[in-house]
This record gives sequence, C-alpha cells and structure tokens, in this order.
Amino acid sequence: MEKSIIKSQAQSRRTFAIISHPDAGKTTLTEKLLLYAGMVRTAGIVGRRKSQKAASSDWLALEQERGISISASAMQFHYKDVVINVLDTPGHQDFSEDTYRTLTAADCAVMVIDASKGVETQTEKLFKVCRLRGIPILTFVNKMDLPAKDIFDLLSELEEVLGINASPINWPIGSGKQFIGVANCESHQITIFEKSESGGAQRAVAKTCSVEEALASKLITEEQKNTLTDELELLEVAGNPFSRESFLACEITPVFFGSAMTNFGIEPFFDDFAKFAPAPGPRPANLDNGDEILVDPVNDPFSAYVFKIQANMDPKHRDSMAFLRVNSGFFERDLSVRHPNSKKDVRLSRSHSMFGGERTTVDQAFPGDIIGVVNPGLFKIGDTVSTNGGFSFKPMPQFSPEVVAQVRPKDINKKKSFDKGVEQLGAEGAVLVLRRRGSVATENLIAAVGKLQFEVMQHRLESEYNVKTALDLLPYNGGAWLIGDPDKFNPPSSTLLAEDLKGRPILLYSQNWEREFALRQNEGYELVDFLQ
Ligand code: G4P
Repeated sequence: MEKSIIKSQAQSRRTFAIISHPDAGKTTLTEKLLLYAGMVRTAGIVGRRKSQKAASSDWLALEQERGISISASAMQFHYKDVVINVLDTPGHQDFSEDTYRTLTAADCAVMVIDASKGVETQTEKLFKVCRLRGIPILTFVNKMDLPAKDIFDLLSELEEVLGINASPINWPIGSGKQFIGVANCESHQITIFEKSESGGAQRAVAKTCSVEEALASKLITEEQKNTLTDELELLEVAGNPFSRESFLACEITPVFFGSAMTNFGIEPFFDDFAKFAPAPGPRPANLDNGDEILVDPVNDPFSAYVFKIQANMDPKHRDSMAFLRVNSGFFERDLSVRHPNSKKDVRLSRSHSMFGGERTTVDQAFPGDIIGVVNPGLFKIGDTVSTNGGFSFKPMPQFSPEVVAQVRPKDINKKKSFDKGVEQLGAEGAVLVLRRRGSVATENLIAAVGKLQFEVMQHRLESEYNVKTALDLLPYNGGAWLIGDPDKFNPPSSTLLAEDLKGRPILLYSQNWEREFALRQNEGYELVDFLQ
C-alpha cells in the first residue's frame, strides 16, 4: 500500500470514546451521530426504549439477561469527510475495567454532561483516566431543552471539579422550553432550530444568520438578543480563549451546548468535533532492549495492540476475539504478524468490525481503526502485534479495584480447571487476581472495579471451564497500589496488603481514612490509583 494512501486514510480517522455518567445522554448522542452521518434515516438503532436498552455490543448471554451492555465495541462510519471510529464505553453504574482499557484505544474523548446535573461521579472517574493518558476531551453539555444549571456556574464546576479550563465554542440561546439555538462564540453567528414533529428522530431544521438578521426576521426576541449579547460580552472578558494546542495538550476542553434528544446544537458540535479531534498520532513503545521509540502511524509498518479480549461472543462458535487498535501502517485480511511474547508468527484471520451488533468482515484497516480477530489463545490484553516485531507498546494501565472477593470451586474435584480458569481470566484482564502478601494460604482473592465483573467471571468459569463457584465478598471497597518497599511497610490492622500475580503490592482498605492513616504511619511511601 502506498504511503500517501496510508497518510490520507490515517489523517481522516477520528477514533474516540464518549464518556459520561449513566443517563446523561451518551446513547442518544451516538444515535444522533449516526443520524447526521447518514447511517440511519431515523434515530433509534442504538438505544431503544429503556425497558430493552440493549446496545450494539451485547454478546455475552449474561449481558442479554441483564439487558445492558457491559462490553465495549467500536463502530466505524463516515461523517462528512472524516472516518469516525466510535468506541463503546458503557457508562453503567457497575461498569468494568474494560471501559478504562477501551479509553486507551481512543485518540480523544467526548464528555457528555447533563446540563441540570453538572459533573457526576462516573464522568469524573473516566475524565481522570483520559487526563492521565493524555487523551484530549471535548465537552458536550446535553439536555439543554430541560431546565439547566446556570451556564457560568456549570463552566466553573468543570474547572473546579475536573481541574481543566473550559472554553465555550458555542453558547446556548435560552434553556429549557426557551432553548432555541446556539451562538458561535467567535463569529457570533447564531443557529436557530425549528421544533420538529418527529421528536428528534429526523435531523433538525436550522437557520444560521447574524443576531441582527435573526431579530429582523423575528427568530429571536429583543430580550433574547440582549441576554445573549451580555453573556457573550462577559465571556469575552472572563472566558478562556480556545487554542487547539491547549486542547491537544489536555489543558483546555472546548465546550458545546445542545440537546441530543431534539437535535438542537448537534450538527454544529459534530462539525467542530471533526475539525478539532486529532487524527492518530505517534505512539510510544519500547524496543526489546528497553530503548524508547515513537511508532509513527504512517511511516512505520503495520502495528497494533490488543485492548480487549472477549470470549464466547457467539455461543454457537465458542470463539474468543481479540480487539486490536491499529497504531501504524496498513492491515489486510489474513495478514501475518509477529507476536513478541511468544516470538511466533500469527495470521490475523476472520478480522471484522462491528456496526449495530452486526459483524462485517474487514479487508483493510488503517491507523486508528479497531479490528476484531479470532484469538488463537495467544493474545493477552496489552499485547503488541506488528509485521516487523522487536518492540512493544506501553503496557495497559492497571487500575485499582473497588470490590474484593474470595472465590472457590463448589466442587473441590474441579480445583484444577478452576485454577486454570482463574489464571486465564486474570491474564485476560477480566478480573484482577490477588494473593495475600507473605501468606502461604492458597485462597483466591479477586478484585474488580465493579461487582458485575465478578458475575461475568463466575458465569465464564461455569460456561467455559465447567466449574461452579462460590464467592464471598470481602469488606474492602478500595485499593491503591503501593509505591515503596512492601517488606518494610506496616499496614494498618484493618487493611490488607496483597499483591498481584506480577508481585506488585496493593493495599486494600474499606475506608478512605485508612489509606491516609497508612501513609501517615509509613513515611516515604505513596499509594496510587493507577499503575502506568
Ligand atoms: P446514557 O446512554 O448516557 O445512559 O443516556 P441515554 O442516551 O440513554 O439517555 C438517558 C435518558 O435521557 C433517556 O430517556 C433519553 O431519551 C434522555 N435524553 C437524552 N438526551 C436528552 C436530551 O437532550 N433532552 C432530554 N430531555 N432528554 C434526553 P429515558 O426516558 O431514560 O429513555 P427513553 O425512553 O427516552 O429512551
């Protein structure tokens, strides 16, 4: 494949994830992206009514039983002149580490905020991960058709809670029932939307003009004009000017306002998203000798890494799929690649991508793309594959768990399969397998971000390893990785010092103050939430 083609293809890619607290409107926004991209004629394919809210990625039987989507996938489609890869990062209350890992495959993120609620807990957590990974974030303040918080207060909240400067790109004209459009903060052109009969199932009809023109043609009232002029003036004095460099450096988040439900403000947002969001850039990696390199998306041959593994996607085929994010070069179906951990050459067969729950075969892929391939039992989360081998991308960050349990086989004769299952699911990253430090007992401690991960694990141990398990939750609801010599660390009596299978120490605690207390008692140590 010619470099110029790889370059233009890579530059057209916008690979991103939407992060939000449940109910802020992520599904609705995704759906509207599909509507405006011309992928669906009427909105309604991704999110259905709440009672049967299945998304595009409900593969596991368990997911279907619960009627929610707990695993991430990606969808690809064209929006005007860019190619969108949208990663599905479920924002369910009980979400898993998958969501965090999926974010590593994104080049940027869209943070959806409910205008009446402001920054909520899940958003805050996901935001932190993006920040940590240097993933630039655009903010979409949704549900402007409902009574909203004061906009200036909302912007201050973003800055105070998240510690990022907010730079409004457009400004809402009114809110709640009076929300009629948005003004561009730079050009001061305004876009007024017409309320439609379709209730948002069709694109919104809009007119863009100057404030004066809008007033003359009675699209806005004198009062609306005055309020808008005052607010834009205040913003000019007090606001943060937008610069793409500061956005890419995660120092600033461009903010947009709208209503995903009525489609007001949706198209101006998507258009700017396509302009602002970065194309795939170079990714840091380490040569086998440890030297650091940057892998260039265009000039380097094919490379990708595994950010997600999913077994039993299709109950009829008991196959396990590895999801790869392409970082450089060109992928062709059945490409042979080097798998550095095993030093084997592997053929990437049956590659596919997803759209609305349907698998489509992928014949070609470019930097930024996500492909699912059959996992010959070789791939683990974080693995690098490339045509030339000899290097690995930075390992996946390891997050600290929030729930801990002890798990055992109900039938002791199944111990061998159980051990194998736990080890494999641990290696896959489905749960974090821990052991008590310094203990000879062979109990199995497992930890996760949400309890749902335990259910998934039990379900998989039963269906894939034929082992029924019993699980006892332990009274720890926080964990932090210990930086410092674990042998000299003196954990408070109510906490537990454990380690993962790589021997990395982690302190499990039930109250936040125990963590602080542990640090006060042990000078020179650090407790961190993420291991990079
Ligand atoms: P999520 O994926 O972030 O969890 O949120 P989702 O899009 O499912 O939206 C949650 C609820 O908020 C849905 O209502 C949805 O229709 C509504 N919603 C989303 N965007 C807007 C908006 O801009 N304005 C208003 N007023 N509502 C919005 P639901 O009643 O839970 O489900 P449904 O019956 O409408 O599907």
